[in-house]
Amino acid sequence: MADNDSVQSGKNFGIETPQKTEGYFLKGLSHLDWGMKDRLSGIFNQQSGKTVMLAFDHGYIMGPTSGLERIDLTIVPLIEYADCIMCTRGILRSVVPPTFNKAVSLRYSAGSTILTDLNDECIMDIDEAVRLNASLLAVMVAVGDPKHEGLTIRNLTKTVDAGTKFGIPTMGVTAVGKELVRDARYLAMASRVCAENGAHVVKTYYCEKDFEQVTNSVPVPIVIAGGKKLPEKEALEMAYRAVNEGAAGVDMGRNIFQAKNPVAMIKAVREVVHYGAKPEEAFKKWLAEN
Ligand code: R5P
Repeated sequence: MADNDSVQSGKNFGIETPQKTEGYFLKGLSHLDWGMKDRLSGIFNQQSGKTVMLAFDHGYIMGPTSGLERIDLTIVPLIEYADCIMCTRGILRSVVPPTFNKAVSLRYSAGSTILTDLNDECIMDIDEAVRLNASLLAVMVAVGDPKHEGLTIRNLTKTVDAGTKFGIPTMGVTAVGKELVRDARYLAMASRVCAENGAHVVKTYYCEKDFEQVTNSVPVPIVIAGGKKLPEKEALEMAYRAVNEGAAGVDMGRNIFQAKNPVAMIKAVREVVHYGAKPEEAFKKWLAEN
């Protein structure tokens, strides 16, 4: 116990300097609690306000898809260039070294695979997310899916409730069914439903036309999925347009790990997302590394 006899009275109260009330750098999240903000600050870069999230959770619905056959060989070398990694608990425990200290966006919902009917999902136990030190809980939300819309929105709601108890934010991941068109009207609707139900971050797709309507109608940060593999220059153009039209970064998988020279590709994506590089400049840098 401290010795009471030597306690000195405080003198330095900074009377002339009012305490600063800091704002928060991420849209719509300034009223969150400290733990939530701490986790989000580890996902999004405070200078750029954006993130390069590396997604490799595809195996939970697709199995060992191209580029993810041996995650230890193909993905682990990319992790150092990501701000955050998005994966399942199975891959986190079995393959991802716990020494990277990267934010983890944990795939928190799981269920049916591409062999049957997607989106028939449940959610994990929050204790498991706490044990794994997750920074974000990623939950699939299938707006417009006649069979699973209600189920997946309930999953989102339960996840937000559970995560809030422990200061872990939730990301609503908009799933697009085969019959639904990925246009601004649909993506704004699906993304807004996620935010209205408490998602702190929304992951959706980029659309060529009116994407700004999507980003502007959602009050929290949006990150875009890369979607199916595109030629590298087109993937960089998509990332550039998305961030310039209001996205807070990317949560990209196949367009990085299926690219020629994935390390060069994730570095090029970083140039675009964090430093505003034009897609042509970033593409040149990618080319130079090949
Ligand atoms: C789907 O299985 C996952 O949510 C992926 O993380 C997501 O689709 C992003 O990956 P990609 O950029 O390959 O679309």
